[in-house]
Amino acid sequence: MDQLKRQAAARALEEVRDGMQLGLGTGSTAKHFVELLGERVAAGLKVIGVPTSETTRADAARCGVPLTTLDEIDHLDITVDGADEIDPELNLIKGGGGALLREKIVAAASDRMIVIADDTKWVPTLGRFPLPVEVIPFGLGATRRAIEKAFAECGVSGQMTVRKAKDGHVFVTDGGHWIVDAQLGRIVDPASLARALSAIPGVVEHGLFIGLASSAVLAGGEGIRVIERRKPKGD
Ligand code: A5P
Repeated sequence: MDQLKRQAAARALEEVRDGMQLGLGTGSTAKHFVELLGERVAAGLKVIGVPTSETTRADAARCGVPLTTLDEIDHLDITVDGADEIDPELNLIKGGGGALLREKIVAAASDRMIVIADDTKWVPTLGRFPLPVEVIPFGLGATRRAIEKAFAECGVSGQMTVRKAKDGHVFVTDGGHWIVDAQLGRIVDPASLARALSAIPGVVEHGLFIGLASSAVLAGGEGIRVIERRKPKGD
């Protein structure tokens, strides 16, 4: 599996050109991309990256990839990031690693987002992977009730759990928020659910990435498949 992730990362690296400003994703697949990018930088490639998490910041620094922020540059050429699920419209569930907020900010600031994954992430319908919803700890009870209402309005339901870290304490994101994971099974209308969740005051962000991915690089036993999104970004 790790080999497949690295192959997908290597294919995405072929899109990178000298002088590009890159969004650097988070997770085990994106980490391969950062490592391979570091090798190219050591060989003379001139790029600059914006990391989507403190973990990726540390990985990129270790690999010698020069870094900047979205305050210092006005756009990104390409963001390369992993995903937890990818559907045929290239809508995504992200946030399994807890970095969904920065990942979405960075993806939205990019001309293109290339999703890299092994092909087990490809699904006909999103929802088997628990949907991460990043929330403000204050008023969590009210926020949970509003999320349940949004689910009901969008025809989904499922158990919600506050994510715990490995040490048993509540998982805290890089932004200081908590994550509620919702086991929905099948999300029939992800765009409507995304809008409904975004309208809830205590929800900081959710893991539905709608219309952000430009292409997906899927590595499987039979080789690499590149799927291009047909609709323009944001649709
Ligand atoms: C991080 O918050 C996530 O969005 C990751 O991009 C996603 O969980 C994929 O991670 P892996 O590449 O480790 O499967």
